Amino acid sequence: MKFLEAKRIRNLPPYLFARIERLIAEKRKAGVDVISLGIGDPDRPTPDHVIETLIKEVKNPANHQYPSSVGMLSYRRAVAYWYRQRFGVELDPETEVVSLLGSKEGIAHISWCYLDPGDTFLVPDPGYPVYSGGGILAGAAPYYVPVYEQNGYLPDFDAIPPDVAGRTKIMFLNYPNNPTGAVAGVEFYRKAVDFAREYKILICHDAAYSDIAYDGYQPPSFLQFPGAKEFGIEFHSVSKTYNMTGWRVGWAAGKPEVVEALGRLKSNIDSGVFQAVQYAAAAGLTGPQDVVDKQSKIYQERRDILVDGMNRLGWNLQKPKATFYVWAPVPKGYTSESFAELVLDKAGVVITPGTGYGRNGAGYFRMALTISKERIQEAVKRISDSIGKVEI
Ligand code: MLT
Repeated sequence: MKFLEAKRIRNLPPYLFARIERLIAEKRKAGVDVISLGIGDPDRPTPDHVIETLIKEVKNPANHQYPSSVGMLSYRRAVAYWYRQRFGVELDPETEVVSLLGSKEGIAHISWCYLDPGDTFLVPDPGYPVYSGGGILAGAAPYYVPVYEQNGYLPDFDAIPPDVAGRTKIMFLNYPNNPTGAVAGVEFYRKAVDFAREYKILICHDAAYSDIAYDGYQPPSFLQFPGAKEFGIEFHSVSKTYNMTGWRVGWAAGKPEVVEALGRLKSNIDSGVFQAVQYAAAAGLTGPQDVVDKQSKIYQERRDILVDGMNRLGWNLQKPKATFYVWAPVPKGYTSESFAELVLDKAGVVITPGTGYGRNGAGYFRMALTISKERIQEAVKRISDSIGKVEI
């Protein structure tokens, strides 16, 4: 058969949220007023000064040509400036920062830089599906590192078999964590660096949610820990911090050889981020940061409404310290899928089944705080009216 798909994509399922989007569209078509706690896609507008920068720069014909595929130096300087202000981390913008078409793109492509068919890489389970997807497309084999509620959803490095660690080339980590909302402390990051040093593993840390935090907590960057730059790279973007998911602009920062390899790969695949968008993202990174604090307060209020509301129905959820996700166990007698189906059918509310993030997500579901507090209140009320009290 001439048009048989390549093996590498034949078994590739549609992206988790592509499936959920289809479900929502079907329900809406049937007249249901669906409330989506599904994808984490900020509903608040991009800050004005970022939009104004885009409008100005889009009118400049010099920005209409191909951008550099690794990013304008002024954009990479803005990233370095932000790291210094936010984390006290020094980065050389010329060698330690590369622009990305959103961090998802870089996360998927880093595996192409370091994994050959048959190689092993470590992925947290549950975890953001792009970590495993990128490596699988590169022909490598993920080794799923289970993370458990009782360990604060942190991997236990000592439980990773030495023969697996020995043949591992890269490991993905992500704190503040999607989907669990877990955070990691100094001790954990130190252990991660030690583990990487012992087994010569590249740590790929996804820090997309570092600026959505509550109750005064300030998540760190992996790069601020001694030795991190020697063994790691951090992925980040303006998507969640400045409400710019649709703009597709992010970066990877850290170990120069890795930044160079990713830039080299990308120069063969894409032609970089539209320059007007890079200027706008730089305006976000170097501009006033009070917008970010105000936004976290908005999410915090939503978090409290959701967690308190669910707890009144029988859950016993802790309030996450960061991210706009609430991770919860399903009631007795349900699986992740059957409970998500029930909530959609009875309450018209979309939740994400935990199994979308790996086998260890079974028995859990995720709710995103990216809709108004009124809609969150309505979602809780509908669950209460249609399902009532639950036993966990
Ligand atoms: C999510 O809901 O997990 C995220 O919005 C997905 C993403 O960042 O790509």
